[in-house]
Amino acid sequence: MTALARGKRPAVWRGVRSAFALVTTAAPGSFAAYIATGLLLAAVPVASAWATKFLVDGLLDRRSVGDLLVSGAVVAGTGVGLAVLPGFSAYCAKELQRRTRLSAHRRVAEVVNSFSGLAYFESPKMADRIRMARDSAGSASLEVVESGTNAIRSLITSAGFAGSLFALRPALAALVFVGSLPAVLMEARIHRRQVRNMWLLTPVHRKESFYSELLTGPRAAKEIRLFRAGAFVAGRAAGQIAKANTVARRLDGTVLRYELVAESITAVITTAGLAWVAMDVWRGTLSVGDLTLLLAAITATQGALASLFNDTARGYGALLHFQAYLDLRETPDDIPACPAPVPVRPLRDGIRIEDVWFRYHADQDWLLRGVTLDIPAGRTTALVGVNGAGKSTLIKLLCRLYEPCEGRILWDGVDIREFTPEAYRARLSAVFQDFVEYDLTAGENIGIGRLEALGDTAAIERAGRNAGIHDEITRLSAGYDTMLSLMFHQDDTQAEDRNGHTLSGGQWQRLALARAILQEDSDVLLLDEPSSRLDPAADRRLRTMLHSLRRGRTTLLISHRLHSIRDADSIAVIEEGRVTETGTHDELTERGGTYAELVAMQSDVLNLREPDLA
Ligand SMILES: Nc1ncnc2c1ncn2[C@@H]1O[C@H](COP(=O)(O)OP(=O)(O)O)[C@@H](O)[C@H]1O
Ligand SMILES: [Mg+2]
Repeated sequence: MTALARGKRPAVWRGVRSAFALVTTAAPGSFAAYIATGLLLAAVPVASAWATKFLVDGLLDRRSVGDLLVSGAVVAGTGVGLAVLPGFSAYCAKELQRRTRLSAHRRVAEVVNSFSGLAYFESPKMADRIRMARDSAGSASLEVVESGTNAIRSLITSAGFAGSLFALRPALAALVFVGSLPAVLMEARIHRRQVRNMWLLTPVHRKESFYSELLTGPRAAKEIRLFRAGAFVAGRAAGQIAKANTVARRLDGTVLRYELVAESITAVITTAGLAWVAMDVWRGTLSVGDLTLLLAAITATQGALASLFNDTARGYGALLHFQAYLDLRETPDDIPACPAPVPVRPLRDGIRIEDVWFRYHADQDWLLRGVTLDIPAGRTTALVGVNGAGKSTLIKLLCRLYEPCEGRILWDGVDIREFTPEAYRARLSAVFQDFVEYDLTAGENIGIGRLEALGDTAAIERAGRNAGIHDEITRLSAGYDTMLSLMFHQDDTQAEDRNGHTLSGGQWQRLALARAILQEDSDVLLLDEPSSRLDPAADRRLRTMLHSLRRGRTTLLISHRLHSIRDADSIAVIEEGRVTETGTHDELTERGGTYAELVAMQSDVLNLREPDLA
């Protein structure tokens, strides 16, 4: 939970330090230029006001041309400074912004990539934290720095003018200060509310963008049209927008009320002060030059004080945003690191799943209730079970995307928790049941399976051939370089209206298989229903290919197509969270248990016999 959500104050100085550290390391040169410009901008208005006073008094007193020229030159110089410096400062700020964004993006990506497991990506609370950190790490750190710098700048300006006021009229200085107080209190309150709203609205925005994407993207376009569900989805998105509007409107109302009160008080006090000063000039106790200085000082002090408090409040708000990034940075990996990891040796004997208990959440019923299974090296082990039995979950546990709640998984007798997830996963390759269809080229869709092979055309084509997708890819307009996306073009120069390519479900599945087998030297191949989308002919070809591919490789194969698994070295049935039967096809068929029932059911349906595979 974030500091705010816990109702605590953020660690202000730590946050400020981290924000400054992020910005200064991202762009040290721009940062230095920005600070230097800021300091100049703080001093120039005070110098300008005093020079104007001396010029006016000098003119009225008919001083020497030399004197007048000095004051005039300072007035002109400060005028040029005031005209030029803001632009320069804005230029530096923009460069600072660009570099900080990039750096913050890298840092957030680094943290997100350091999460080894899946649990955080499936938790709404973490989703909000990641989203906020992603959206605001760069802008919030910059805002902390900018508002901090601005606040210091305003402090210098207001101190300069307050000093001037004090020198001429001490009581007036006090009056101006008191006149600014309502605005200060108002800003502080508004910013606290704004930050609270942001936390309230993050999940709302997340839902809204989900529905909007569903409405406008290609993923659901087909079903939405067929089921005429467009208005329903649009309504869901609109509902979220309306919810966000209600919250924002309430705040805007408060802002308006506060502003009216605070501004009126300030205006009354300023007018009273001005009247008082004007009377003194009329009586001759103040010079006209004093009047110009006082006029400038009153407005400038008020302005500087207002922006001082405004910037402090803005900085505080930004700090709360930035806290999401700090919290994210401090979130430990969901897969606890082993203090002294051991190297992963090539698999010799096999993997043993030992009395593994698992559920996704503590408030759920157990999904796996003591699964014990041996996956011998160099053999194919098949896993069967009804939908929801926990087969895919077991694959994810084998990939260490979650930790078993009880029990352990052994790699040649070594608990896989003793390896780093990186090193361990380098020995596995997998086709997940819900594999990803990347908006990349066909070659990249395969190459992402082993990034070092991304430029290795021969290896990619070999994987394509082994997965039985090569011929279909070469028939695409640009072969392996064809962009498989309806969203992106190959490069931006292509005609806007040119359609992207996409593949059929079965073709995508074979592409995913190519991606998995690109890692030719992986020890273990995990296949979760790799042929579920294939037509019988493709399934048949795939079986032959997998048969030769699997030879000598440790494979765990999940399939509902019993043809695919009948030649496995061992078949395990998972039921009620346990492995209830293991054996070869023949052994299990003979035993007359669940597997035999499944075989009988499929034979009934098909009433076909397939010739044995060579
Ligand atoms: N990330 C998840 N969070 C919570 N429950 C999940 C998650 N993934 C799967 N489940 C649940 O776990 C059960 C087993 O899923 P799964 O392992 O995919 O079954 P199988 O592959 O055997 O069909 C299902 O009831 C499913 O709803
Ligand atoms: Mg599954």
